[in-house]
Amino acid sequence: MSVEVLVGTQWGDEGKGKLIDVLTRDIDMVVRFQGGNNAGHTVEIGKEKYVLHLVPSGIFRPGIACVIGNGLVVDPVSLMEEMQELAGRGLDISVIELSSKSQLIFQYHKEMDTIRETQCPGDKKIGTTKRGIGPAYADKAGRIGIRGSELTNPPGLEKLFREQAAAYNKLFREAGVRELNIDAEWLRVKAAAEYLAPFVKDTVLSVNRAIKAGKRILCEGAQGMWLDIDHGTYPYVTSSNTTAGGACTGAGIAPRHIGTVWGVMKAYTTRVGEGPFPTELFDQTGEELRQAGGEFGATTGRPRRCGWFDAVASAYSCMVNGVSKLAVTKLDVLDELSEIKICTTYEIDGKTTADMTVSAHVLAKAKPVYETMPGWECSTAEVRKWDDLPENARKYLKRMAELVDSEIAIISVGPKREQTFSV
Ligand code: IMP
Repeated sequence: MSVEVLVGTQWGDEGKGKLIDVLTRDIDMVVRFQGGNNAGHTVEIGKEKYVLHLVPSGIFRPGIACVIGNGLVVDPVSLMEEMQELAGRGLDISVIELSSKSQLIFQYHKEMDTIRETQCPGDKKIGTTKRGIGPAYADKAGRIGIRGSELTNPPGLEKLFREQAAAYNKLFREAGVRELNIDAEWLRVKAAAEYLAPFVKDTVLSVNRAIKAGKRILCEGAQGMWLDIDHGTYPYVTSSNTTAGGACTGAGIAPRHIGTVWGVMKAYTTRVGEGPFPTELFDQTGEELRQAGGEFGATTGRPRRCGWFDAVASAYSCMVNGVSKLAVTKLDVLDELSEIKICTTYEIDGKTTADMTVSAHVLAKAKPVYETMPGWECSTAEVRKWDDLPENARKYLKRMAELVDSEIAIISVGPKREQTFSV
């Protein structure tokens, strides 16, 4: 089977962008299948550092087709700016295809996202990226969204945009917030539409033709399992299916074509935004992880919440995603620690359980029960094979794999391409 899927197994920010860049050595096409520019995939190549928000991470290897699939919500102005920046840095953007069935994000979605976040009571805040993701997916489900295909039809796009913007302005008026200048916004949208129109395609056809031709395809997930709209810590989630099944609907690929599912798993845990996080550390160790791991959001710059590896949550995640190969990232961030903890069970209302609970209010009560392992207290940044890892690092990785019942295939020990090796 020629299609591989790569997903985040935690709350996002597992280092997927780097992994995709490494895996695309042997790939012909990379397909994003959900989310939008809430994602921020960081890739470091040589002295250059790139942060991608919508463009698939295959863009760094010449000749790889980069597909933005139907499952995405796409801010046209943001996509245009990202493509212009990449082109300006010498990358070939002619390989990008934008699905005619993707949904478009406009300024009114972003305003609505911000209003909801700022006007709701504290405990109802999601901590969104304010990129309009939730409102755009809500319009899609409500069947009032505007799709990528309209970018090729400016008069039709203008009509739809003005109607929708006027409807949103009515809501803004009622909420007592500033209305949108529809004429000015339209000019921005029009310029983006003109720029993007040549890239709009029925990507379901391109993807399936590539499958038929025996090309190797990698579906690139954004965010992570616990932000999935169905399986995550609802309501503290994003608005798309971030799990492996999302690749079928979000790219138009039949399940029978899916082979390997890569699960990217950080050697500890982080989360951005609100919501339960049982292994979160509020002490000096949490701060050390944040600093050593550079745990600040690639999209919003927010400091990430940091904690120990949670095997209860991660085992459930590997199960839902059907992970066949694990890529463990940021092992080097643990290098200095004298001891490392792994959460193996939760204690909830006095009872111990190894089962993940999917209910946010119950998870909020979960106390992590830890197993403590000795650290290795030396640098792994230069290690390039399993046997050269310190013994305690090997023990830690083996224990992680055992607890989540999956096999480790790749280990990453730093942000650079070359700081990666197969097991
Ligand atoms: P939204 O996707 O902007 O609606 O945000 C919903 C939740 O998902 C918030 O907790 C965000 O912090 C989180 N989120 C969205 N995108 C990412 C990401 O790429 N990495 C980590 N968290 C994310």
